[in-house]
Amino acid sequence: MYQSRIAGLGKYLPENVVTNQDLSEIMETSDEWIQERTGIEERRHIKKGSGDTTASMGAAAARIAIERADLSTQDIDLILFATLSPDYYFPGSGVLVQELLDIPTCPAMDIRNQCSGFIYALSTADQFIKTGMYKNVLVIGSENHSGGLDMTTRGRGVSVIFGDGAGAAVITREEDPDKGILSSHLHSQGKFAEELSLIGPSTNRWVPEIIAANDPTDESYYPYMNGQLVFKNAVVRFSEVIMEGLTTNGLAPSAIDMLIPHQANLRISQFVQKKFGLGNDQVYNNIQRYGNTTAGSIPIALTEAWEEGKVREGDLIVLAAFGSGFTWGSSIIRW
Ligand code: UT7
Repeated sequence: MYQSRIAGLGKYLPENVVTNQDLSEIMETSDEWIQERTGIEERRHIKKGSGDTTASMGAAAARIAIERADLSTQDIDLILFATLSPDYYFPGSGVLVQELLDIPTCPAMDIRNQCSGFIYALSTADQFIKTGMYKNVLVIGSENHSGGLDMTTRGRGVSVIFGDGAGAAVITREEDPDKGILSSHLHSQGKFAEELSLIGPSTNRWVPEIIAANDPTDESYYPYMNGQLVFKNAVVRFSEVIMEGLTTNGLAPSAIDMLIPHQANLRISQFVQKKFGLGNDQVYNNIQRYGNTTAGSIPIALTEAWEEGKVREGDLIVLAAFGSGFTWGSSIIRW
């Protein structure tokens, strides 16, 4: 059995910055409300005509990650693409990235686990490497939320939170058993599937049906979130799954050098920080600048933390996520 480790990281954020003030000019909201409830100050939205897409942003992040791993695109054995906002209904964005990266034939798979998508994809990469089947796996988390949000007062409970962006990691074989991904922990609870969801268009609500209904009050093609229920579950599940990862490896919370939580809400991160008795330098947050980029959030934050020299050789890095499904998970990594 091999170990796997993250050998290269990259990120891509669209240039267009949208501040809370910008949003307050198109819907009834305020900088004060958004900052107080979520910590968000600004986010990025793809500018129409810029050419940015879920796949192109993923490919841009991937190119950087591959270069930093000292590999070429031709060394990639498998592409795992986590997103809730794929370019097409089908095929998945993984094959689109493959084409953008000029990789002739390798398996490419989309992972549909929303905010936990990157952790699910990382764990899948780890399993394929552990068995010896693949050596270099490209894992991408990318989201293009902005075009699909209800940017009116009706949608403000959701639309102020989400932003666009992508992060990528190259996962590679590691011979040292004490290095790399020590363990991953994945959970889902379908009971709450509709509490954070986008119901139509789907096979449950086909596009022709939506068009035929011509109903301006129809909200089924916008994301829906039962914010308070999600919040309450998030704080419990984040804590549980981080503890599960630490316990599995015989570690105490004090062993954490850097916790990188999915950037759902600064208040959730602060709750978890307090619960585990971690200092400000032991938890990385960038939701202030990017909002919630769903599957992109952990790889973007991990890349930034690494670029800032906050992820160093030998450090214990903990990744954790919670979101739609509900799904949640953690990865315990010795860098
Ligand atoms: O990444 C996936 C996981 N997602 C999460 O973990 C998100 C978890 N949930 C949350 O972060 C929070 O629930 C929110 C930030 C989404 C909402 O915060 P909240 O403190 O739960 O607010 P609320 O939904 O209970 O709404 C409070 C009030 C309502 O007005 P009334 O009914 O009290 O008059 C809302 O209509 O705030 C109003 N409101 C807003 N006001 C200004 C909702 N959205 C906005 C807004 N601007 N954008």
